[in-house]
Amino acid sequence: MSPQVLRDPLANWNGELMPLSEVKVSVLDRAFLFGDAIYEVIRIYNGCPFLFEDHVSRLGRNLEKISLPANAVAIGERTRETIAASDVVEGIVYIQVTRGVAPRTHQYPVPAPQPNELIYVADFEDPYANTRKQGVSVIVLNDMRWKRCDIKSVNLLANCMAAQAASEADCAEALFVDGNGRLTEGSRSSLFGVRNGTILTAPLEENILPGITRKLLMQLAKECHFPMREEGLHLNKLSEIDELFLTGTTTEILPITLVDQQKIGTGTVGPVASKLDEAYKKTVNHLANSVG
Ligand code: PDD
Repeated sequence: MSPQVLRDPLANWNGELMPLSEVKVSVLDRAFLFGDAIYEVIRIYNGCPFLFEDHVSRLGRNLEKISLPANAVAIGERTRETIAASDVVEGIVYIQVTRGVAPRTHQYPVPAPQPNELIYVADFEDPYANTRKQGVSVIVLNDMRWKRCDIKSVNLLANCMAAQAASEADCAEALFVDGNGRLTEGSRSSLFGVRNGTILTAPLEENILPGITRKLLMQLAKECHFPMREEGLHLNKLSEIDELFLTGTTTEILPITLVDQQKIGTGTVGPVASKLDEAYKKTVNHLANSVG
């Protein structure tokens, strides 16, 4: 399900506040020509950005990974100002930093152009509010993405194709499987499984995004005393898995009950996912009511 756009979001375009619909960008921007840009999505609960510092740190690491000379801390401050200037209560912040506008050359232009920095704050309704308790169905697709999925780049065509295929199959998400039969992650979410009481998730390598919600989930698992191991799940061993669930900024914790029509465990939402969902909601309530 795609989030509903409720009203024109408030944008901050290179430091200037304006309605998102009024932002204009050159066709020579390298994001338009090459996808030469990175992004972040942060959830806002009760007017407060959730796990803000973690997102800004990841933004900084991504800027470094592609040698894009922008300042993540300054963008973070500008993001807070934009949230404060908006009256969004339940929403998301989208941040995108592009290498800027320059004549089209594949290598990075010299001198470096001024990066284009977009921030916008939009209303957001939980798309899974009605399905979270029952769990969702997913499909499995070959992971046809590039080999640097750790970079949160805006090159998301493969992810869009996967999400579209899932949608056409009436499924909530598509899981990617690599050439060795290991499930990596979803088109826009991280993947976890539970086998004999131990929580499993793929290790952080260059084939998956280091999810901020994934990190929180691992912390919550520890607090709930669930054993946890960074170990990839095998598609042909799904029958050994008792529970499967997705995590992500807009996905939160979403139990999976069917994979390619095949039941996971009992085919219902399991106790580990339920407990973690409870812990997640407690964290949201705690942070949303304490820090700004
Ligand atoms: N997607 N894996 C992929 C490929 C993703 O695109 C995302 C997030 C995640 C989860 O990461 P996090 O917990 O940091 O949100 C994992 C965002 C929400 C998006 O593209 O809209």
